[in-house]
Parts: sequence; structure tokens; C-alpha cells
Amino acid sequence: MVELFYLGAAVAFIIGLKQLGSPRTARSGNRIAALGMLLAIVNTLVSEDIANWTTVAAGLAVGTGLGAWFAVRVQMTSMPQMVATFNGFGGIASALVAAVAVVDADLGSIAPETSVSILVSMVIGAITFTGSFVAFAKLQGLLPGRPLLFAGQNIVNGLLMVGLVGTAIWGGARDEAGGYWVAAGLALAVGVLAVVPIGGADMPVVISLLNSFSGLAAAAAGFAIESNALIIGGALVGAAGLILTVQMTEAMNRSLGHVLFAGFGSDESSGELSPIGDRPVNKATADDVAIALGYAESVIFVPGYGLAVAQAQHALRKLADALEEQGVTVRYAIHPVAGRMPGHMNVLLAEADIPYEQLLDLERADPRFSDTDVVLILGANDVVNTSARDDPGSPIYGMPILNVDRAKQVIVVKRSLSPGFAGIDNPLFYGEKTLMFFADAKAALEDSLTALNAL
Ligand code: TAP
Repeated sequence: MVELFYLGAAVAFIIGLKQLGSPRTARSGNRIAALGMLLAIVNTLVSEDIANWTTVAAGLAVGTGLGAWFAVRVQMTSMPQMVATFNGFGGIASALVAAVAVVDADLGSIAPETSVSILVSMVIGAITFTGSFVAFAKLQGLLPGRPLLFAGQNIVNGLLMVGLVGTAIWGGARDEAGGYWVAAGLALAVGVLAVVPIGGADMPVVISLLNSFSGLAAAAAGFAIESNALIIGGALVGAAGLILTVQMTEAMNRSLGHVLFAGFGSDESSGELSPIGDRPVNKATADDVAIALGYAESVIFVPGYGLAVAQAQHALRKLADALEEQGVTVRYAIHPVAGRMPGHMNVLLAEADIPYEQLLDLERADPRFSDTDVVLILGANDVVNTSARDDPGSPIYGMPILNVDRAKQVIVVKRSLSPGFAGIDNPLFYGEKTLMFFADAKAALEDSLTALNAL
């Protein structure tokens, strides 16, 4: 019966994960997976011989309380940090499970595959723990976002990795607990040193990779303590995290190696209002935007990171509703890496209950731009940077973009000519068909709606 319930939990994880693939079913997928986790926890508590219920109850209460408090309070723009802390705690939990196995087991008598599982779980869990908290600190501004580089960094990291693998093999082969502890300690250091040279803006990819690591550590812990639910759950997280990592790097046209080792990535857009380009642009006001939108037959909104920063999703919905009431066809084009985390824009727009059928992904949006009257870009920059398509010398050349410049008119809402994440200028801003509305996205949308109503 116990194994059957664990199997039920694993099936719930798989159904939940499958449903997370579409915004329409994502909420129910999340609930089904959470129910599966509840089933696994209750099953464990009931079937195991729990020595100290008070400790278990206290742990559950503190964990649930803290989790709920953070989940309710977190800002949409801080979601990557939240995921980073989850990954970090997941990693250390697996490492601690493995550590208990070392303390409890008679190392001389355990099977070689068990000692390998324990070591893998401890090492990957420890790397995930410190790596995730460095990622958190970079995103939270507690550490500088720029890549922190020092002379001989790759040599130090290489030596550390050799030392880690050597100690792990030595400890495992000689059944010395000391080897396990030293390997875990070195893994903690590797986690820090591997993430500090990566730029803050690349942290979402790192977080997705560490998410995959936390799954691998859990799966290895599952082998160590012979828990099928942990093995299946961990393997699902490991595989899903890896697929997501690959998809993110592909959508940025970069390799994982480049993200991890190239020290690429400027700080987040600083929000400085000084223009970087000295070429002239066509400036627009809220009235200009209202006239362009009000007389259009079709409008496509392109949300980007700035929309999330401004928390302008509800203002966007109100403007879209007003346009639809006037018979304008409204759609939203979503680039896969718009924002700072996978699905960032989908989550943001879902918060304002924007209908899913109006959302277009890259492929579906592309053919529509040429017969669209106005494209309104809201705090997006790199994902509409035409140099990625037209300039072989551009650092982002080859990254797929939304071809907004094929529409009859383009309006860009941002506060200045400052670059986006990639730190480069955008030729779109100087185009003949482009109007630049320099404003905070929320204020711009609200003012445009007021102006539209006054037309
Ligand atoms: P970005 O290229 O980063 O541009 C965002 C723009 O928003 C900035 O140019 C900024 O200009 C503007 N902005 C900031 N605050 C604003 C506000 N309050 N009101 C209006 N505008 C505001 O964003 P994007 O086009 O969404 O592209 C995402 C980038 O992040 C890509 O380069 C992508 O590769 C990278 N990235 C994404 C992910 C994922 S998974 N989504 C992961 C890692 C990296 P001003 O300062 O002038 O206002």
C-alpha cells in the first residue's frame, strides 16, 4: 500500500508537470502536483516509525509558515530570487538527507552504489545550496550583478573540482566518513566560485540549471535511502530544469558554456535617464499614442521587462478593453525570453486576466505584424532589437526577435534610450516608422487611456 501511494504521488507529479505546459491548465497542474506532494508526505509520516512527532510538527509549521509568507509577499519581479531560494533549500535538504545516511550507516557494509548515491547527493546538493544563494544575492543587489572575475579563476576552480572528485573517490573507496565531509565542504566552495563569475542578468539561466541540480541531488538522495517517490520526483525536476535551461539558452542564441564561463552580461538596465544614442528619434506624447491607437484597426502589444518593473499589467488591460470596445482588434506578442524568467510575461498578463487566445508566441506573431496598424512596445528592448536580425557584428546576432518593424507603425514606451539586458543600442528606436514615448510604462498607459477617452 505504501508503495502504491508513492506511485500515486509520482503520477500526480507527472500529470501536474504536463499541465504546466499550457497557461490554461497551469493552475490545476500546480494543484495536482501539490496534492501529490501532500500524499507523499502523509504517506511517509504514516508509514515511518516517527520517533519525535514534536520535531516533525514544528518543522512542518515553520516551513509552511515561512513558505506561505514569502509566497504572498513576493513581487512579480522578485520571482527569480524566490525560485533561487527554493532551489538552495532543496539542495541542502538532499545533502542533509545524504549526510544523515553517512552518520547512520556502517560505511564498511554499504553497497558501492549506495555510497556513490550518498556522495552525489551531498556534493550536488551542496553546490546547489551555495550557488543558489550567490544567485539570489546577485539578483537582490546584495552582491554586484557584474561578473566577479579574478586572475587564475579557472585554474582555482579546476583545482577545486579535481580536489572534490579526488576526495569523494578516496572517501567512498576507503569508507572514510572524513572523505565525505571534505568533499561536501569543497562542493560548498565550488557552488560560490562557479556562480560569482556569471553576470547578474544571466542568473535566470543559472537558476534554471541549479533547479535541475536540486532535482538530481534529490534523486540521488532517493537512491541513498531507497525512496522511489524521491527518485521519481527528483528525476522529473532534474529533466524539466535541464530542458528549460537549454530552451532559454537557445532563445538567447547562446550556448550553456558561454553563459557559465564567458563572464557575459552587464548589470541590469540602470534606469539612468541619459540617452546613449545621439541620433534623433521621433518623440511621441500620450495624445499621439491615443490617436494612433484610436484610429487603428489592429494593435499588437509587445510586453517586456519594463512592463513588469512598472507593474503596468492592469493599466494595459484597461487600455486594451477600451480599444476593444471601439472595435480595435487587440493581440499580445510574447517573446520566449522577454522579461527575466521563463513565462514571465505570461504570468504577468495572466495576473490582469488577459485572455489566453489573444497571446501570440514568436511563430504565430511573426506573420501578423505586416498587416497590423500599430505595435505598442512596453518596456521591451532586446526582444525587438533589429540588429539581432540585420547586423552580423551585433553581440546578439542570430537571436530570434519579434519583427515589429514590419507593422505600419511602431510605438516604443520606455523611460530613455538606455539599453536592455544585452547592453546594446537598438536601431528600431531611430526608424522612420517608430515613435518613442519616453515614460514609465504604467504612467504612459494610464495617460494614453485618458487621452483616448477624450478623443
Ligand atoms: P530588456 O531588453 O532588458 O529591456 C527592458 C527595457 O525596459 C529597458 O530597456 C528599460 O529601458 C525598460 N524599462 C525599465 N523599467 C521601465 C519602466 N518602469 N517603464 C518603462 N520601461 C522600463 O527586456 P526584454 O526586451 O524583455 O528582453 C529580455 C532580456 O533579458 C533579453 O535580452 C533576454 O535574453 C534576457 N534574459 C531573459 C531571460 C528570460 S528566461 N526571460 C533570462 C535571462 C536573460 P529604460 O531604462 O529606458 O526605461
